[in-house]
Amino acid sequence: MNKYALPEISDNVFWVGIKDWNRRLFDALIPLPQGTSYNAYLVKGTQKIALIDSVNPGFEKELKNKIEQLSELKDIDYVIMNHAEPDHSASIKYIMDLAPRSMLVASEKGAKMAGLYFDIPQDRMIIVKDGDVLDLGGKTLKFVEAPWLHWPETMFTFLVEDRILFTCDFFGAHTAFGFYDDEVDDLISLAKRYFGEIMMPFRKLAKKGLEKAKELDPLIVAPSHGPMYRNPDRIFKAHEAWTSGETKEKVIVLYVTMWNSTENMVKAMVETLLSEGIEVCVYNLTNADLGDIAKDLVDSRGIVLGTPTVLGGMHPFAIYASNVFKILRPPTKYAVALSSYGWGGGAINQLQKLLEPSSMEIVGALEVNGPGREDDFNKVRELGMELAAKIKGE
Ligand SMILES: Cc1cc2nc3c(=O)[nH]c(=O)nc-3n(C[C@H](O)[C@H](O)[C@H](O)COP(=O)(O)O)c2cc1C
Ligand SMILES: [Fe+2]
Ligand SMILES: [Fe+2]
Repeated sequence: MNKYALPEISDNVFWVGIKDWNRRLFDALIPLPQGTSYNAYLVKGTQKIALIDSVNPGFEKELKNKIEQLSELKDIDYVIMNHAEPDHSASIKYIMDLAPRSMLVASEKGAKMAGLYFDIPQDRMIIVKDGDVLDLGGKTLKFVEAPWLHWPETMFTFLVEDRILFTCDFFGAHTAFGFYDDEVDDLISLAKRYFGEIMMPFRKLAKKGLEKAKELDPLIVAPSHGPMYRNPDRIFKAHEAWTSGETKEKVIVLYVTMWNSTENMVKAMVETLLSEGIEVCVYNLTNADLGDIAKDLVDSRGIVLGTPTVLGGMHPFAIYASNVFKILRPPTKYAVALSSYGWGGGAINQLQKLLEPSSMEIVGALEVNGPGREDDFNKVRELGMELAAKIKGE
């Protein structure tokens, strides 16, 4: 049998996760340039053994083999489920069937989901509340409620003696590389992509989760995607900024164009913003990576959306992007809409309607007939100056 690399991250605490470097898409939505990992951990006390989280469907056997390198499967007493999403919990049933005396440990909502999703019977569950502990013999697991990070049932598990905080998706990053944070060069950027997509819609609760994590003063933060943080300060500081809702003098530009008219408006806007010293990140929606967009939405103060009119409304990619923008609930304050049309128009009207219900200020919406003349581009530049003034006015 394969001999696995299972780092002992602390005395009798082992990483038994999976590195899925083949995966290229998550949530049928977000590209994964470096794959991802599903981190599971085995904690061996003198009396009891606990498995913390499990792995994505398809990797059950590999998880079993890894655990067996460290312990007999039947000796597992507890399977801790911090989060019921299948990438961490779909293998729980498989493991529990092979570990007949094991009990599932979850929050109340988590227990319901474990029954619903994975057919775990009620009589094999222990429901825990905030502050409850389990003694494994020299290793105490303390459960910390951390709801809505990013499902209603989520919790953290703290290993008291070793000061390791298992946070499941929170503090996660999609990469299959590295066991520890200092081994992955672009980790903060990857974690920011992850935060933007998964945690930003729950920013206030993420702030609470961060506070709880900091209070516990862990030596190691062990999430269930990406490397473990043996320097938790770095990821704490990053999350302080991201959960604060503070924005930078930065504008994200999302646009689509068929014949470059909208693109030429976008270009005039971008040059104006740049000449005003604003940071600008530009994404053409036909080839943009949604993870990058989510990352830049975390701290952009303004957004420019550009779309031509297609069959009386917005281009479908722009509708898609506007919807993604709305559901991710970024802290963006100011918006500008740009559009080109051939005869009757309609895109700009639809876009304004989509943006209006948010708390953002729509600084301006400009609709140009055809490819645009010098006059039109002057109007774009004027609008760019207005947007820049708003962005810098804070
Ligand atoms: C498939 C298609 C559908 C279109 N539908 C409309 C429309 O319903 N109303 C309109 O005013 N223009 C319509 N147009 C014209 C475009 O809005 C116009 O050519 C615009 O200048 C294109 O901007 P772009 O160069 O940024 O792609 C359509 C163009 C295409 C290719
Ligand atoms: Fe999740
Ligand atoms: Fe996950």
